[in-house]
Amino acid sequence: MKTIYITTPLYYVNAPPHIGHAYTNIIADSYNRALKLLGKKTFFLTGTDEHGQKILNEARKKDTNVKEFVDTVQENFKRLWRVLNIEYDDFIRTTELRHTQVVKKVLEILYKRGEIYQGFYEGFYCVPCETFWDKKELEGTELCPQCKRKTEFLKEKNYFLRLSKYQKELERFLEENPDFIYPPQRFKETVSFLKTHNLEDICITRPKARLSWGIEVPFSPEHVTYVWFDALLNYISAPGFLRSQDRFSNLWPADIHFIGKDILRQHAILWPIILKALGLKLPKKIVAHGWWLINQEKMSKSKGNIVDPFVFCEKYSSETLRFFMLREVPLGQDGNFSEENFLHRYNSDLANDLGNLVFRTLAMVEKYFNSELHPCQISPSVRFFQFLDKKDLLKKYLEEVNFYNYLEEVFKFVNTANKFIEEQKPWQMAKENNKELLREFLYQLLEVLRLVALLLYPVIPITSKKIFEQLNFESELNFEKEFVWGYLKRKIILKKLPPLFPRIK
Ligand code: MSP
Repeated sequence: MKTIYITTPLYYVNAPPHIGHAYTNIIADSYNRALKLLGKKTFFLTGTDEHGQKILNEARKKDTNVKEFVDTVQENFKRLWRVLNIEYDDFIRTTELRHTQVVKKVLEILYKRGEIYQGFYEGFYCVPCETFWDKKELEGTELCPQCKRKTEFLKEKNYFLRLSKYQKELERFLEENPDFIYPPQRFKETVSFLKTHNLEDICITRPKARLSWGIEVPFSPEHVTYVWFDALLNYISAPGFLRSQDRFSNLWPADIHFIGKDILRQHAILWPIILKALGLKLPKKIVAHGWWLINQEKMSKSKGNIVDPFVFCEKYSSETLRFFMLREVPLGQDGNFSEENFLHRYNSDLANDLGNLVFRTLAMVEKYFNSELHPCQISPSVRFFQFLDKKDLLKKYLEEVNFYNYLEEVFKFVNTANKFIEEQKPWQMAKENNKELLREFLYQLLEVLRLVALLLYPVIPITSKKIFEQLNFESELNFEKEFVWGYLKRKIILKKLPPLFPRIK
């Protein structure tokens, strides 16, 4: 069986992670868990992007050695992934030897093949901002658009990758592979960018005199590698390109690169061209999610409008954050992050619908049967039966990373069960001492809880396990086997835990 290879972007370590960063990894982790639930073998890679000017600047501001600085900040990402229960298989840092060696070898290969050539880079350079601007950006002045100080015209020797040469080939590839980029709107955007722009060769080095923090270029020791060229290569360095051929060929091409929409061009244009130049296959799919906004503005460190995921999870739990992010917006669209939206979602879906169903059901089994129930051979009521018929649809949603519609279906099911309780009036069955009917009724609800726990596993794994624990049921987390009616076969002895999601005022 081919291992399904899933990646996330490598996060810049210029600052600790915020909720926007958490989002990409929550999507990737839930998808990884979903595939495992469906019986697939997967490999899930994440990591950190540790070179470049931005990071060097931050280290200088803090007056620390840059290596020590990145060592410290990358720990925050690992810590966040622990808090959020992100179960990755590998974490790659671009400063690791296993990565830098591959970058150097790739540079050499491409240089020898003539895909990289020496040229001159020119533009208006702002020394304090350490940024190049082109004439258009200066809008007729000589002043830096950022800090308004005078720029200098610089012409420096550098190395370029032949992007232009591959433009037509990439356009053809996109024409033939309309599913390469998801959502379709991002695919169209990429195609139309290529139609209206002539790609220029890209400068992939920086003189050490100007930027020392990077991977040295093997054929020109006075240069370091441009940070995007360096970072993109993680997707092949981690699975063993040029180091471990067998492992690499079992993993490459990647099945899915999860990214945010802001880094689409690097992934949909630059990265495929690097791979083409290397003669490697292209990834199967790029999925670009939208942004989390705060009052309609992108959440980012530079704007100072970030939500700290550590603080948030401490206050509300990582499970509720995972749930909110996947339930609130369809993949690809932007979402507004506010405590008000969050609390609304929490109280309606988690406290009222799910939490209440679990609590009521267990309380009834406790009250009427002393927490012990013998299973019965009863076929599900029609409404549950209809849901079981959606097996293929649910699978399809998971495979398509469509957690939005998936969760909608699961919660319809939860609510069907809540309505079932209202309609069947178990308290009357109890009054009439109709034990058999009551037992059949409660058995159905326990089966519903078991199914709900199974279905929620990819998104809220801890909650799912807590529900299984209360049912005293050991799930193998196997969708094919367990998404059937009547799987609770032995005497059920319930274990009561505190309410899953108490209402928050
Ligand atoms: N280092 C590059 C990626 C290199 S991949 C070879 C980078 N890093 S980043 O830290 O700036 O961003 C990483 C991811 O976080 C991106 O996918 C980006 O879209 C995502 N997000 C950053 N802010 C975000 C929001 N406010 N909302 C949602 N995601 C956002 O780019």
